[in-house]
Amino acid sequence: MSTLITNIGELVTNAADDSGPAPVSRAAGPATGFAARPDAAMVIDGGLVAWTGPAAAAPAADDMVDCAGRAVLPGFVDSHSHLVFAGERSAEFAARMAGADYRAGGIRSTVNATRRAPDELLRTNAARLAQEMLGQGTTTFECKSGYGLTVADERRSLLAAETVTAEVTYLGAHVVPDEFAADPAGYVDLVCGAMLAACAPHARWVDVFCERGAFGADEARAVLAAGRAEGLIPRVHANQLGPGPGVQVAIEAAAASADHCTHLSDADVDALAGGGTVATLLPGVEFSTRQPYPDARRLLDAGVTVALATDCNPGSCFTSSMPWCIALAVREMHMSTQEAVWAATAGGARALLRADVGHLGPGARADFTVLDAPSHSYLAYRPGVPLVAAVWRDGVRVRGPGSAADGGHG
Ligand code: NIG
Ligand code: FE
Repeated sequence: MSTLITNIGELVTNAADDSGPAPVSRAAGPATGFAARPDAAMVIDGGLVAWTGPAAAAPAADDMVDCAGRAVLPGFVDSHSHLVFAGERSAEFAARMAGADYRAGGIRSTVNATRRAPDELLRTNAARLAQEMLGQGTTTFECKSGYGLTVADERRSLLAAETVTAEVTYLGAHVVPDEFAADPAGYVDLVCGAMLAACAPHARWVDVFCERGAFGADEARAVLAAGRAEGLIPRVHANQLGPGPGVQVAIEAAAASADHCTHLSDADVDALAGGGTVATLLPGVEFSTRQPYPDARRLLDAGVTVALATDCNPGSCFTSSMPWCIALAVREMHMSTQEAVWAATAGGARALLRADVGHLGPGARADFTVLDAPSHSYLAYRPGVPLVAAVWRDGVRVRGPGSAADGGHG
């Protein structure tokens, strides 16, 4: 059954072509394919986008939804999150806001709580956060393990992640757990050996926290190579807390994404610009750890592909809100509203090697968000305001009037 979504005030397609004259609005920046048209319509059919173009030229369909001038955007693609955990660290956050530094070692307190938690609790915690994401317009997201750090606890973390998303990442190399403090090499062997064997069937990606206090360059290389040998695709936590080898390791490993990228050398920027690795920026982390923001302009102006994601986790950034990350990126990192929306949709899709999401060109998945606003720029112009009026995933309205979450009527 086809549905015509019409009277769209601004349709962000991020697509090179749609049906009709070229979209009027394209970003000027070097690294963004943002594209939008005013007074638009879209036909969806079988869970996919079938047609986009001027509302005046829209074809007939079986059903019709009138957006009354609201903006429609591709669903957000949050390419970095850690939703499988137990406990919380609000006291650590409060201490940071009072002047304490963020330390990678805080991860261990969540590890202790996660190891004690039953599977059911890990699943319900992850599901609650996934629903929170959906309500804010996120239709695709990645989710990591990394708070278990034993063979059994990493495996069951991935099993919980599998219940909320297909984009599952094995992060056994998040930090060296206390019981291996005297033998970090032994822990890397475990991550590359028995733990990987138990986890690889339940993941698409392998990640490593390459940072002082976590894992060095050689350890990170070993983890990524072992993961690759088991069919997992690398991504890296890189250059978050200080300069270091993370970005170079990511590029050597042909990682899909280097995430954080807060402290970069010129060589790091050049390498990102010259390679296929996306720089995923997580501005909620800098907000929540009171650190300087990554230099998004330097990356964009160098031609690097930039994604925005939440990094939703209990330690360094406990937000599930892509709209808030967009607002931060615009206000604090000097991204244009167009660049930020592209990075939060198509950029995230690139970071997950997904061609079917992040845009609304014909053939894309019909995953989109209707804003209670006439244009995408309201996401930064009205920060903190719940602007998501409806969310559609696979061509089905999952939030907003008429969705099951709203009682199924309307
Ligand atoms: O992406 N950097 C490493 N991992 C998380 C932090 C996790 C935590 O503090 O619990 C991050 O920021
Ligand atoms: Fe992270």
